[in-house]
Amino acid sequence: QNIAVIMGGYSSEYNISMISGNVVYNHIDQTKYEPYRVVITKEKWVALNHKDQEFNIDKNDFSAIIEGTKINFDCVFNVIHGTPGEDGKILGYFDMIDLPYSSAPAYQMALTFNKRDCLSVLRKHGINTAKSLYFDEGDDINPEKIVNELGLPCFVKPNNAGSSYGISKVNKIEEFSMAFEKAFKEDHEILIESFLDGTEVSIGVITYQNEVVALPATEIVSENDFFDYEAKYEGKSQEITPARISDIQLQNLHTEAIKAYKALNMSGFSRSEFIFIGDTPYFLEMNTVPGMTTGSLLPQQAKAAGIPLPDLLTNAIEMAIK
Ligand code: DAL
Ligand code: MG
Repeated sequence: QNIAVIMGGYSSEYNISMISGNVVYNHIDQTKYEPYRVVITKEKWVALNHKDQEFNIDKNDFSAIIEGTKINFDCVFNVIHGTPGEDGKILGYFDMIDLPYSSAPAYQMALTFNKRDCLSVLRKHGINTAKSLYFDEGDDINPEKIVNELGLPCFVKPNNAGSSYGISKVNKIEEFSMAFEKAFKEDHEILIESFLDGTEVSIGVITYQNEVVALPATEIVSENDFFDYEAKYEGKSQEITPARISDIQLQNLHTEAIKAYKALNMSGFSRSEFIFIGDTPYFLEMNTVPGMTTGSLLPQQAKAAGIPLPDLLTNAIEMAIK
């Protein structure tokens, strides 16, 4: 069976997705599947051969003629962080042409990628979150009101983005204008969240062999002010799996992480970040196309659970195709 590992995408996370995508491509079990790399950008959709030569994808059926042979794909492995993979856009297209894919359905992906809407669903299910305020470009944004409602420090985030692009921690009211500028570069909507002062953990929840499973959690100790891009990808953090938390904290974390996954009707991979206030985990966000670089958390957590990466990928493909 031919598997299209889609990577790249239209957002700032392009580079990370290319790294994640190549890791997935290199770890798909080649005794079972024939993986192909398919790079999706605004400018071109192309399949690559072993020599990195590019062959255009026919958007009518997502096929490609590679070195004279027409290749039809049996399944798409979605490794596009950000738009149009993690926000479900391209998945709507795959639904329309009846091509199965590895991640959750288009709607669940769209809902979960939108931070405001995701938080609003989870709050209705009783999951704890930071307080937040939402603004669209052009709205009248009053920093004093924000400080009155959320206090300082607080976080300014693009509403739809990943890998910490566009995120600032605001310590002083004068810092808001720079933070807004940075966030609006990534998205026309922003979310401002109150600061939660506690231990940060990341936990993968996946559907594995038809069961919803919480993986061992990772504790994040960032050398920077928060778990920003540098901390995530340039070694400026310590990631400790399993997290050094108490039994009761771990139990609460599992309960909340699985509750969030089910409340969002998720399937496939997910990795969520939480902050502990006492024994209570507060939900920050869920990644539905989690990073798959060699240093990324979900593969580390799966390994700690005794699931090697090729098995994790085979399971996702089998679930998509069945
Ligand atoms: N958005 C990045 C890739 C992650 O969450 O791992
Ligand atoms: Mg992300």
